[in-house]
Amino acid sequence: QKVEMKLEELEKGGYEHFMLKEIFEQPNSIADSMRGRLDAANGTLTLGGIYEYSQALINARRIIVLACGTSWHSGLVAEYLFEEYCRIPVEVEYASEFRYRNPVIHEGDIVIAISQSGETADTLAAIELAKSKGAIILGIVNVVGSSISRVTHEGAYLHTGPEIGVASTKAFTGQLSVLTMIALSVAHKKGTITQTRYKELLVELARIPAKIKEVLDNNAVVEEIAERFKDAKNFIYLGRGYNFPVALEGALKLKEISYIHAEGYPAAEMKHGPIALIDEEMPVVFIATRDSSYDKVVSNIQEVKARKGVVIAVVTKGDALIPALADYIIEVPPCEEALMPLISVIPLQLLSYHIAVMRGCNVDQPRNLAKSVTVE
Ligand code: G6P
Repeated sequence: QKVEMKLEELEKGGYEHFMLKEIFEQPNSIADSMRGRLDAANGTLTLGGIYEYSQALINARRIIVLACGTSWHSGLVAEYLFEEYCRIPVEVEYASEFRYRNPVIHEGDIVIAISQSGETADTLAAIELAKSKGAIILGIVNVVGSSISRVTHEGAYLHTGPEIGVASTKAFTGQLSVLTMIALSVAHKKGTITQTRYKELLVELARIPAKIKEVLDNNAVVEEIAERFKDAKNFIYLGRGYNFPVALEGALKLKEISYIHAEGYPAAEMKHGPIALIDEEMPVVFIATRDSSYDKVVSNIQEVKARKGVVIAVVTKGDALIPALADYIIEVPPCEEALMPLISVIPLQLLSYHIAVMRGCNVDQPRNLAKSVTVE
């Protein structure tokens, strides 16, 4: 017993929990996911694992993404990326729904399966179904040699190292990193992105680890906010565009480990329901970084304030407008819109972590949850 404890302490590398260690590892784990693949100086992306089917991906008439949980959220970000840069329509499906509804799959359709563990039963069964109908299956998987990685035709591993905390953190950003590289590589080969824009995005991608580091340096600010809201009963997370999936992920992280009810919504959908929940007790987390929907998000914040909601906003450093409206702000460095989820999710991971710790929850082993769900 004693020896086991010691080993676990060692594995946590001085952090109190695996989740915190994994959150803080992200500057390195993202760099690892890009190592040998991204060469920003020379403007190249090399994804050795997607070779034989790279032309099929370029020619794809549509892409179906299959995943569950947090991996499904990175699939939503991929939808924005592939549609914007590759002009390929993308459907992001819960594997559990897809497999039971007699889905339309054509010979040669591209399916991207996203799974940290590579063992999720629903995702595995869904790709087996798609494969049997002639689809090409690409895997975005963390665990090398896992069941899903063996069923796929080709794919790209995350290379982010083992993730122990049940709530996914570094695997999520690893997935975003790999999906972004694939989307940009396809866009470049397809000619749906200009050379200048492509190079700009590669340079920006290479800067992500340093920017995540900057966000992590803000940990104390997030901890203070957690102290203020640790007893809240409900939370709403709102974002638009690339930050919409981040809102879903932020809400999921809070639910998973702190057991506080939280909902993520696209900010514009607020008026179709969640706005009814807003009162002076209700913390609303806005992911409100400077991007193409910034002005609209500002209006959404004003709508919440008009109903006396309490606003916590993740904003771009230097923003002067939102800090004047919001009750609490967390700054993140400026970043290209398409890459912002890699940055904007970090404070939300920290917020859920601190709240869960303050509530005395078991953050690494939350009740009722499993790291890999091998039953349907
Ligand atoms: C479980 C885990 C989640 C994960 C989901 C999908 O619910 O607790 O963290 O996002 O499964 O897992 P996968 O390994 O397929 O990404």
